[in-house]
Amino acid sequence: MSPVKKLKKIALLTSGGDCAGMNAAIRSVVRTAIYRNIIPYGVSRGYTGLLEGDLVEFNRRSVSNIMNRGGTILKTARSKEFRTKEGRKKAIRVLKENDIDGLIVIGGNGSFKGAHALCKGSNIKCIGVPGTIDNDINGTDFTIGSATAVGVALDAIDKIRDTVTSLERIFVIEVMGRNCGYIAMRVALAGGAEDVLLPEVKPDLNKVCREIKTAHKKGKVSWILVVAEGAGNAHDVAKNIEKNTGYETRVTVLGHIQRGGAPEAFDRVVAARLGSAAVDMLIKGQTDKMVGVIGNRVVATSFKKACSKKKDKTDKELYKLLKILEA
Ligand code: F6P
Repeated sequence: MSPVKKLKKIALLTSGGDCAGMNAAIRSVVRTAIYRNIIPYGVSRGYTGLLEGDLVEFNRRSVSNIMNRGGTILKTARSKEFRTKEGRKKAIRVLKENDIDGLIVIGGNGSFKGAHALCKGSNIKCIGVPGTIDNDINGTDFTIGSATAVGVALDAIDKIRDTVTSLERIFVIEVMGRNCGYIAMRVALAGGAEDVLLPEVKPDLNKVCREIKTAHKKGKVSWILVVAEGAGNAHDVAKNIEKNTGYETRVTVLGHIQRGGAPEAFDRVVAARLGSAAVDMLIKGQTDKMVGVIGNRVVATSFKKACSKKKDKTDKELYKLLKILEA
């Protein structure tokens, strides 16, 4: 076995949709690298900034007082150019010109697909840290930011419940999740919603309407239906309900507030663990992998597997529970 080349400089970027806890991961990467005598470079605006050579050396102070802040101090982007072979060649050139031998990418599925292609086309070593509110990545029980997003959405739903009950209305609340019902399922259960529509399950609006009418006859006049973004448009769902039940329906789309706010302690701890583990993996010569936490242990999963469709049976289990608990 050839000896692992000693790492001198690494670069770090955040990519795709931002989420609470990214800053805690940045801090962990930077401080672990310095502790291990490696010079960390922060890249601005994800792969877009990398292509423009927008990177600076970081020191311990560069990441002071950011643990409690939402968003990402590095900024983020979704780069079209990096998706091309030419774009990635340019990125490799920038990294080589700056003597960078390792790259850490904090982001979601799309960002890891890009990182995987970069690894295949060069000898740059690359490790991913899962950061997305969607929690839709294989190889980790939790992605950084998902716990905070659920908390933010739940806080909003608790407030909406006050007016739902006072005015005896039906409310359709849309939460984020283009391809994944993680947030929707959890806030529906934790918020005591009557029903939830998930992208993973074909929606049956006729059934929802029938249930609303039956409940109404029994004296249950307020109703919260949580809809994941990818399961249908909340306004269309509400129109359908009003038309088929005759009951007044209102809509709230929670949108990007779910991506903001101070990270919950849980996300900060996961971020600290995974950021540090990513640096240690690079030191060991590992590449083309993501670090995640499974059953409270830090584990590595290939980018390829991490980006394959997540097979999680939990939502089905939680949905059954929601229907049992529904009044
Ligand atoms: O991937 C995270 C996410 O927040 C999804 O839940 C959502 O569908 C998407 O990003 C929104 O992206 P944008 O901020 O580009 O509108």
